[in-house]
Amino acid sequence: MGAAEQRPGAPGRYAAWVDSTSTRPARSLVTARTAAVWQVLRREQERQGRELTVLDVGGGTGGFAVPLAEAGHRVTVVDASPDALAALDRRAADAGVADRVRAVQGDGDALGGLVAPGSVDLILCHAVLEVVDEPTEVVAAITAALRPGGALSVLVAGRAAAVLGRAVNGHLSAAAALVDDPEGRAGPRDTLRRRYDATSAAALLTAAGLTVEEIHGVRVLADLLPAAVVESDPQLLLELELSLATQPPFRDIAAQLHLFARRP
Ligand SMILES: C[S@@+](CC[C@H](N)C(=O)[O-])C[C@H]1O[C@@H](n2cnc3c(N)ncnc32)[C@H](O)[C@@H]1O
Repeated sequence: MGAAEQRPGAPGRYAAWVDSTSTRPARSLVTARTAAVWQVLRREQERQGRELTVLDVGGGTGGFAVPLAEAGHRVTVVDASPDALAALDRRAADAGVADRVRAVQGDGDALGGLVAPGSVDLILCHAVLEVVDEPTEVVAAITAALRPGGALSVLVAGRAAAVLGRAVNGHLSAAAALVDDPEGRAGPRDTLRRRYDATSAAALLTAAGLTVEEIHGVRVLADLLPAAVVESDPQLLLELELSLATQPPFRDIAAQLHLFARRP
C-alpha cells in the first residue's frame, strides 16, 4: 500500500468514519482523492441501515461498486465498455463478492430496460456526465430508476480547477478557451465534452426533479501538490481535503464536484 492510501477498516485516525458500524468494512482504499465521497456514501448507508439496491451508472471497473458490495449491498453496474465490465467481474471475484455484483453492458440514458423503474435505493454516476452525449437524458433515466426517497451520488469535472490547472502549467490559450466555452471545454481535442460548477451541476439535477442535499469539492488539493508532499503526511492531506470539501471558495476550485441528491 502506498503511503497516501488508507485501508477503510484499518486502525488509525479515520477508522471511525471509514469503518461503518452498520456495514462490513470495504477492502478498497480510501484516499484523499475519494474520502469526501466515501464519507457521504457511508452516511447514507448508516441512515438506511439495511442492504441497499445500488446502481452504478458508468461504474467502469468497480472502484466504488466492489467496496459497496463488500459492505453488503447488491450492486448493478451499467457501463458502455465491455472491457471495463470484464475488469469489474475480475475485481468482484477477487474480492469474493461476485454474487452481489451484476455487470450490464448498456447506455446510461436507457436504463428503463435494465432496471425496474422506481426500484433503486442508491445510484452512483461518477465521472460520466462530462462524457455522455446528453447529460439531461442520463439524469432523467437515473431519476426514473430511483425509488421515491432514493439517493443519487454524482461526481462531475470542475470547470474552475481545469482553468487553473491549465493556466499554472503555462497553457494560457487552453485556459482562455475553457473560460470562454459555454460548456467548459478546452477546444476540440479536450477529452471531456463539458465541465460544471456547483450552480450548473445542481441545476441539472434540480431540473430532473431531484433535491440536492449536499455539494462537496473532491480533490481540492490532491491534484495540485507534488507527490512528495502528498506522501509526506497522507493523513493530514486527507483531513485537509475533508475540511476544505465543504468550504467555498475551496470547494469550488476542486477537480471534481460531488453532489448528493434525493428523489422526493
Ligand atoms: C471516467 S470513467 C468513470 C468510471 C467510474 N464511474 C469511476 O468513477 O471510476 C467513465 C465511464 O463511463 C462509461 N460510459 C461512458 N459513456 C457511457 C454511457 N453513455 N453509458 C454508460 N456508460 C458510459 C465508460 O465506459 C467509463 O467506464
